[in-house]
This record gives sequence, structure tokens and C-alpha cells, in this order.
Amino acid sequence: MATSRQWQLAHEAAERYEHILVPAILGPFAQALVKWSDLQSGEVVVDIGCGTGAAARFAAERVGPAGRVIGIDVNGGMIEVAKSRGPAQGAPIDWYEKSAYDLPLADQSADIALCAQTLQFLDNRPQALAEMYRVLKPGGRVTLSSWTDIQESPYFSSLVAAISQHINHDTAAGLGTAFNLSSPGEIRSLLNQAGFRAVEVTVAQLELELPPAEELVPRHISATPMAVGFNTASEADRQAVLNDLTTRLAPFKMPDRSLRVPFTSYLARGYK
Ligand SMILES: C[S@@+](CC[C@H](N)C(=O)[O-])C[C@H]1O[C@@H](n2cnc3c(N)ncnc32)[C@H](O)[C@@H]1O
Repeated sequence: MATSRQWQLAHEAAERYEHILVPAILGPFAQALVKWSDLQSGEVVVDIGCGTGAAARFAAERVGPAGRVIGIDVNGGMIEVAKSRGPAQGAPIDWYEKSAYDLPLADQSADIALCAQTLQFLDNRPQALAEMYRVLKPGGRVTLSSWTDIQESPYFSSLVAAISQHINHDTAAGLGTAFNLSSPGEIRSLLNQAGFRAVEVTVAQLELELPPAEELVPRHISATPMAVGFNTASEADRQAVLNDLTTRLAPFKMPDRSLRVPFTSYLARGYK
């Protein structure tokens, strides 16, 4: 399970990630991180753990044609989907299937290192932050996002609880690891220890409108590392997950059956 816990998705799952998770949840948070990063025209941005490119594309718009964006992800499926979307608006984007521990950039070559909902999956966070520090120009900055405690994002906590209860804990862990870096003190100290200064950690809460639970949940699961465990469970257990979730999410149900649910993430930044 080690690879699935690091959010390793095959190509079809990466397509589903782009078509389901990015519009519903990850895209709005990537946009919030990019906005908070205060990008300037002409800046060079490296997006580490870029996935299908949600943050990289918002960054390309912000830095404009005089800027440059480099998207890096260890998962070839994510990079293929990112490339297949064609050129972004604004700056050109170069995509690399590479690890956060070995960035394909020269020392002091980037203005900003973005890391959207990725640091929590990395086994060696200090090494990843040291690489970001290495490639940043003096005065450059890192900005990153990581979910706050899962209880502050009730859609996620309901999903993990229902899957743990009706399928198993190991399957639920495919999403649970997204909440492995949910302490502002830990984020701050990782950044300080990597040498970043003027470190700030803030909270972003977005109330997102999601499709009805019975439509979203099976599609969402299919786009995450939980898919294998869910798909091999019995029909009765899968139905029990959906029934349980419909009940847990009832307080967020709108008259048209869509959901309006708060999601909460830390946003952090530090300067080299
Ligand atoms: C939850 S996704 C976030 C993707 C994207 N930043 C977004 O906001 O949609 C986490 C990403 O981290 C990537 N990842 C995990 N370990 C990595 C590593 N060692 N180096 C680079 N990327 C990694 C995964 O492949 C995945 O695309």
C-alpha cells in the first residue's frame, strides 16, 4: 500500500482526478494557493507534485507570457494528463516526470516553489524542502498547502469514516494520508529547519458546491488510491458506504440535492 498512500494513480485514475477532483475540490484550493502566492508578471514558478497541473495553470495565467512555469510530478500518469490538456494561458509550462527529491532545475533558478497538497505525502519532507530551497533565487519564496485536521473538512471525514466502517481501514488510509501534515507548528518548523525565514501559516476555508453525494462519491473514490479496495468490496458493502455517507452529509444538502460543504487547508509561505 505504500505507493497508493503516496497518491500514486494510474493513467485512467489520473484522468478521473482531473475531471472529478480538480473541478470539485483541488482546483479551488490550487487557485487559493496561487492567489496567496502573490505572483508577479515574469516570475519563474516551479510546481512540485503538480498532479494534472491545477496550480501550474493558474500560476501561468498570473505570471503571464514573460514568465515560465515548470510542473513536476513523480507520477507519469498525472504528467501525461497535464500535457494532454494543451498549452495554458499566459506563461509556457514545461512538465517533468521527476521526484520532488531531485528537481531538474539549476541552483537559484526559480522565483517561487509551489507545493499544493503534496508535502503531506512525502516520506522525506526535509529533503524535498531542501531541494526547493536549492532551486530558489535569494529572496525567492516557497508556498504550500496542506489540509487542516480532517474533522474540519466534513466531506473528507465522512468519506474516511464510512469506508473504514464498511470496507476496511487500509482502503480508507488511501485518503487518510492526505491529513498527515495537519499541524501548523509542524509546517512552520519544517520550513524554518529548511532555512526559510519570515514563515507564515494561515488557514483557508472554502465552502464548495459539490454534486449530490450519490453521484459524486463513487466517482470521487474511483479517482483516488481508495479505488482498488472499494471496487473489490461486495455490492452490499459499497451500498452501505453510500447510504452512510448520504446520512452523514445530510446537514450539507441543498434543496436541489447538491452539497455545500466547508473544506479547510493551511497555506504556508517562507522566504529564502
Ligand atoms: C493530492 S495530489 C496534488 C496534486 C496537485 N498539486 C493538485 O493540487 O491537484 C499529490 C501529488 O503528489 C505527487 N507526489 C507524491 N510523491 C511525490 C514525489 N516524491 N515527487 C513528486 N511528486 C510526488 C503525486 O503523484 C500527486 O500527483
